[in-house]
Amino acid sequence: MQTKFLPFIGVLALIGTLVGCGGGQDAEDNAPAADSSRDTAMSAARDQGRDAGNSDDSMQDAAESASGQMDSAGERAARMAGEASERAQGMVDEAGEQAREMASEAGERAEQMAGEASDRAEQAMAAATSAMGSEGSGQAARGDSGDPCVVNVEVGDSIAYSVDSISVPSSCDSVTINLDHTGTLPKAAMGHNWVLVPAAAVQNIGMAGMSVGLESDYLPDDDRIVAATDLIGGGESTSVTFSLDDLDDGTEYAYVCTFPGHWSAMRGTFSVE
Ligand code: CO
Repeated sequence: MQTKFLPFIGVLALIGTLVGCGGGQDAEDNAPAADSSRDTAMSAARDQGRDAGNSDDSMQDAAESASGQMDSAGERAARMAGEASERAQGMVDEAGEQAREMASEAGERAEQMAGEASDRAEQAMAAATSAMGSEGSGQAARGDSGDPCVVNVEVGDSIAYSVDSISVPSSCDSVTINLDHTGTLPKAAMGHNWVLVPAAAVQNIGMAGMSVGLESDYLPDDDRIVAATDLIGGGESTSVTFSLDDLDDGTEYAYVCTFPGHWSAMRGTFSVE
């Protein structure tokens, strides 16, 4: 702080010296004082010079310091840039990893879905094969016409239908069931019929047949019955035709024999495709 004033002091000293030199009169008397003033001024000038030198040094130091600071700032900037670059690279890597993970998960899900679709396809194939199998036996029981809306069902001297399930196209205007008893026993001993009812009512209606007796063909009067053939014995045939409009959507149907004691064994599912 003090060195800042030294140049001014030096300048004042120089002015003092010059004034002293220009004095003229009393110059001889004042010579020692002038010399002294000059020395003082010179000394001050030297000091100033030295201080100036020092100041140069200081400036140099400051410059070096500034340079150092700039270098330091540059290094910091470079370091920050490097760190930023590393962070950016890290983020890019992380994003890439996430993307790969997501792609991997998506791939796994796709694979899982493909697997499930494959399972469903297999189930559909199995169902189709099963349907073809039952349709095959159904076709074997059908008449010569091959009409899918006409289904032939055989019964005999045992408590069984020739088909466990019947499926007809929804396009059928009407459906005809032909029932053929290929056995020899009379209907009082081994009578059979084919009665279409809601699947949930099979047991109830099947058991109700016994209470109405043979004179009523063991067929109960029940509004839930969609269609029913006559009761027949060995060597007889009968048929029933009904409209699919008589079926309720969303209700499962089944056919059953209402001869006493036959309902549990003589039954099958009826469906519309
Ligand atoms: Co029967």
